[in-house]
Amino acid sequence: MLKPFDLRSSDAHAKLLSLAQDVGQMHMLQLFETDAERLQNMHLEVGPMYMDWSKHRVNESVMEALFELAEEADWQGGIRQLFGGAPINQTESRSVLHMAMRGEAHDPFHVQGAPVMPKVLATREAMLAYADGVRSEGLVKDVVNIGIGGSDLGPLMVTKALRIEGEAGPRVHFVSNVDGAHLESVLGEIVPEFTLFVVVSKTFTTQETMANAEEAKKWIAEALGAAAVSNHFAAVSTNVPAAEEFGVPRAHIFGFEDWVGGRYSLWGPVGLSIACSVGGDSFRALLKGAREMDRHFAGASARQNMPLISALLGVWYREYLGLPTHVVLPYAQDLDRFPAYLQQADMESNGKYVGRDGKPVSHPTGPVVWGEAGTNGQHAFYQLLHQGTTVHPVDLIAIKAPMSKFSSHHQKLLANAVAQAEALMCGRNSEEVEKEMRAAGASEEEVRRVGPHRVFEGNRPSTFLLLDALNAHSLGMLIAFYEHRIFLQGLLWNVCSYDQWGVELGKVLAKNILSEWQEATPTVHHDASTAALIERLR
Ligand code: F6P
Repeated sequence: MLKPFDLRSSDAHAKLLSLAQDVGQMHMLQLFETDAERLQNMHLEVGPMYMDWSKHRVNESVMEALFELAEEADWQGGIRQLFGGAPINQTESRSVLHMAMRGEAHDPFHVQGAPVMPKVLATREAMLAYADGVRSEGLVKDVVNIGIGGSDLGPLMVTKALRIEGEAGPRVHFVSNVDGAHLESVLGEIVPEFTLFVVVSKTFTTQETMANAEEAKKWIAEALGAAAVSNHFAAVSTNVPAAEEFGVPRAHIFGFEDWVGGRYSLWGPVGLSIACSVGGDSFRALLKGAREMDRHFAGASARQNMPLISALLGVWYREYLGLPTHVVLPYAQDLDRFPAYLQQADMESNGKYVGRDGKPVSHPTGPVVWGEAGTNGQHAFYQLLHQGTTVHPVDLIAIKAPMSKFSSHHQKLLANAVAQAEALMCGRNSEEVEKEMRAAGASEEEVRRVGPHRVFEGNRPSTFLLLDALNAHSLGMLIAFYEHRIFLQGLLWNVCSYDQWGVELGKVLAKNILSEWQEATPTVHHDASTAALIERLR
């Protein structure tokens, strides 16, 4: 178990509070001016990933105090427990070993003293052989992944991100919502004869997934006869008996263990639809990339550790500068589902007010995570990023190599990414604005009236993450980077990052309401507003 940690009782806390009033209020341009080595000391390179974190409202003293905070929280001990298979998912008494899903034969991952790699590798081989079979036989034109949350967002994000590597594979569709429109719209694009449904559910009880899977089964049975169902379905679950009972043949069911959290599960059989799209070799490259980040994370010192530095910057903004959100802006259309994926990974992990000691924490925890692919976001909400009343720290993710045959687009895309980071930090002061307006022929009245609206205060922080290319390897690294950032922030915020009790209540109440609709007179007591809504909808 990870020990409870009270950030506000740490020695580093008082220092950070005072630094927040001092360095935290300074303009980053001033910090650059006073430290010629700033960029040199504030960037890191790991394999194909470059991280420039110099555009943050920190200096050496702040970083020193943040590293001290991490020491007090025993970040390295935490990593040893994580990788060592300790039951750090304490409310469910489970290990947290998604890293084993991208592990190799000689990796020493154990759960309760037993090695896990033999089974992980056997399942990986079976799952990738199945996926490669789907690709090579050519009988399947469309794969439909039916799942929700971690059984949807990871596979969907990765399949989209690896669009080019998936060009030779079947089309992959995703159905998650219990709104029948989602299933209906996908069924409208495919034909039963050439379709494989992959039902992905860790529990195999999730209402949305089971409703969609049942309808898909009917759709196949009606078109091709009940006997055809077994050929057109595969399943992924920790609950193999339930998948068999649903009608999926055992040979098409890929199991995994409960020490893999749903939102961390794309690396194993949950990634079946990814593998069907890109093939076994690419899937293995994805795992290799993530493993490279795992090794970096577990082995690098504090000052060289990408996920640690990123996590500490997040804590600095949330706790010491009081900033409520974290923005993720991938300058890659193929990464357009990355923010949605990260929302679940981060917010379901660290959006908690109860600490590891079972008591409410005394400080803010996980921020709201949001974002959109650049440059679409620029034409939507960047106004608020640049001139809104709240500062929102951002991660800009850019890719060096072009991601389409339109290479001049790529230069424009990258120019925009770099320009945004520059604009966020540098802003534009009133002198510059006025000079520019006068040069453009504006009258003095106009300069007075419009000038203030054109001023950007700047000093808005960003991390620039640059990948050499968007491929399976670099994507694996990027995802694992965020997974580890989440782990460390959870450690510092003293929450249990690997459970998700906060999603349970809504599920239970929805079940109650559903069953009440089937009764003549509702029996459950509701507040007046809820009762009125139920009555209107009955
Ligand atoms: O409702 C949240 C959740 O439990 C997620 O954590 C999970 O990824 C999702 O539901 C789907 O669960 P399952 O894979 O068991 O269908």
